[in-house]
Amino acid sequence: MIIDMHTHFVPKAWPDLAARFGGDGWPGIRHTGPGKAMLTVGARDFRPVHSALWDAAERIEAMDRDGIDVQVMCATPFLFGYHRQPDQAASCAEMFNDAALEICAAASGPQAGRLRALCQVPLQDIDLACREVTRAAKSGHIGVQIGNHVGLRNMDDEGIVTFLQHCAGENVPVLVHPWDMMGADRTKQYMMGWTVGMPAETQLSIVAMILGGAFDRLPLDLKLCFAHGGGSFAFLLGRLENAWHNRDIARGKSAHPPSHYCDRFSVDSAVFDPRALRLLIDVMGEDRVMLGSDSPFPLGELQVGRLIRECALGEATQSKLMGGNAARFFGIESPAH
Ligand code: CO
Repeated sequence: MIIDMHTHFVPKAWPDLAARFGGDGWPGIRHTGPGKAMLTVGARDFRPVHSALWDAAERIEAMDRDGIDVQVMCATPFLFGYHRQPDQAASCAEMFNDAALEICAAASGPQAGRLRALCQVPLQDIDLACREVTRAAKSGHIGVQIGNHVGLRNMDDEGIVTFLQHCAGENVPVLVHPWDMMGADRTKQYMMGWTVGMPAETQLSIVAMILGGAFDRLPLDLKLCFAHGGGSFAFLLGRLENAWHNRDIARGKSAHPPSHYCDRFSVDSAVFDPRALRLLIDVMGEDRVMLGSDSPFPLGELQVGRLIRECALGEATQSKLMGGNAARFFGIESPAH
């Protein structure tokens, strides 16, 4: 079974959130032509998008073209609402989570089970976040996607660790996705927020979890995955390890050196270069790298699975990366088709 575990959706339409909650800067969508739309933030155009984001049939067609059996979809981070009032973000999370399940359900008959969804939660309020992840998992979500920080709170924040403990207790897998990138003032041009900021954000999250002692406080059976191959983490692990051994203040609260924690999380394969993928498998192990394309965005892998297929990994390793690892991680069984 081939599984693409990192793809995005937005619903085709949703209510006017400014009218519902007041205030401005809410995410919206304006359809501009057949199969085309503009995502908006308040009155500002944010990003042009196309119908693969919400049309199940179109997604299935692309999956068949690339030989993908199952696709795991999660929200686009601009829908998170972490800076909003908690009750408003909770209400949005519920609405977008239910919309995700409707897209999954539209793949019916012989296609049933080929689209699966991760929920979102109001991570600024841990009680509400725990409540929504439990509700969503009961209603059909196979995991949760969270943004990698809430304001100044990194992934070792006590509240976020509490949320992760809750997910472990309920056996809900967690995908951590970068958003709201650091250095935004200096990365406005050339999409550097995506090419530089995002990998740095993800590395920061993993390092904060290690040095902040989060992994020492979390159960071993937590299922945790970082997007985009874990960002800059694998390539810079040696630097981190060296600092840990040679400077007291670089050790933080971690009980062990950073490399000790590499078996506590997984990463996706969205690194776009066979040399990077080989390093990633070397650092993380072949059981902890999963095909993830970031479809259907243009910064994703356009022919899903091509990097892994062309990396000459050997049949057993390739099969783990292409779906075996994700099937175990998310508890996905083969769909009927
Ligand atoms: Co993504």
